[in-house]
Amino acid sequence: RRYSRITGTGSYLPPRRLTNADLVAELAQRGIETSDEWIVERTGIRARHFAAPDVACSDLGLEAARNALQAAGLLPTDIDLIIVATSTPDMVFPSAACILQNKLGANGCPAFDVQAVCSGFVYALSVADAMIQTGAANRALVIGAEVFSRILDFNDRTTCVLFGDGAGAVVLEASETPGILSSDLHADGKHVGILCVPGNVSGGKVLGDPVLKMDGQAVFKLAVGVLEKAAHAVLAKAGLTEADIDWLIPHQANIRIMQGTARKLKLSMDKVVVTVDQHGNTSAASIPLALDHAVRAGQVKKGETLLLEGVGGGFTWGAVLLKL
Ligand code: ACO
Repeated sequence: RRYSRITGTGSYLPPRRLTNADLVAELAQRGIETSDEWIVERTGIRARHFAAPDVACSDLGLEAARNALQAAGLLPTDIDLIIVATSTPDMVFPSAACILQNKLGANGCPAFDVQAVCSGFVYALSVADAMIQTGAANRALVIGAEVFSRILDFNDRTTCVLFGDGAGAVVLEASETPGILSSDLHADGKHVGILCVPGNVSGGKVLGDPVLKMDGQAVFKLAVGVLEKAAHAVLAKAGLTEADIDWLIPHQANIRIMQGTARKLKLSMDKVVVTVDQHGNTSAASIPLALDHAVRAGQVKKGETLLLEGVGGGFTWGAVLLKL
């Protein structure tokens, strides 16, 4: 049997870092009142990074991809598949993946975006795994890259304090030993309205409101339940139990969602990789960013069993269980 395995990780954060205090001061200039205490208590977020105006999704993804290739000891021309998970691509079309492919110098291989908002990375990783298993690809770059700062309404304090920009990437290679053990993906489109950017481009104009809208409590209530189900599904498919998990690397939306998920899975928080405090919610980038930070910090090691979990707009959710 043919499997896929992560052979390198990389990430990139734009240099401009805003602490809660920095953001509080910026928002105060608009007459918007918030505080470090409120943000930390409700979300666990202490800082986030924002990209400069001339930096696009593909630029962040490119840096993360280069770092992942270096870690895997590969050249761009070794890659035969590029998937970018993003909801904030450079343009309506072509995909961020095509733009990134050209900047990287990996021209010729298939390249496309996967749009599943905060679940995007687990979706993209599952697609790449399936393509490697069937022999359609041998060496894939799977990237999560986002510039959520572009779609935030800085007059809406309930959402603009939550998100940040960044990118993470993995190299996924064909292997005789597993790697990715199982995956489980879902969507339920009846919840479109609880988390969306309803605007679009039409007739040369922006139609509707092109900023993020969220019913935070509805998202919170759905998130913990579906994450528990997805975790149990991937464990059952692989014939493993909660006790086999070395690390939970969840989508970094909010520390309280992560604590709730860990509790349901009977995992102590010291088995959960947490970067939301420093990165905020970077949507599709959050899981590969957290993975790369944990690998480079020596926290997560080769041979360990990792549970990756994403949940986000759509409503979408999913999990990937893997051996690093
Ligand atoms: N600063 C200060 N006060 C605020 C802020 C802010 N930034 N935002 C809201 N408030 C106020 C509200 O106005 C409200 O005041 P009121 O009681 O006088 O009306 C009060 O705080 C409580 O507001 P709630 O919305 O009820 O706060 P809640 O405890 O639900 O926390 C939050 C909001 C953090 C968004 C929470 O619902 C949550 O974590 N939801 C999960 C959603 C999430 O993480 N989404 C990320 C994107 S989705 C994803 O990635 C899966």
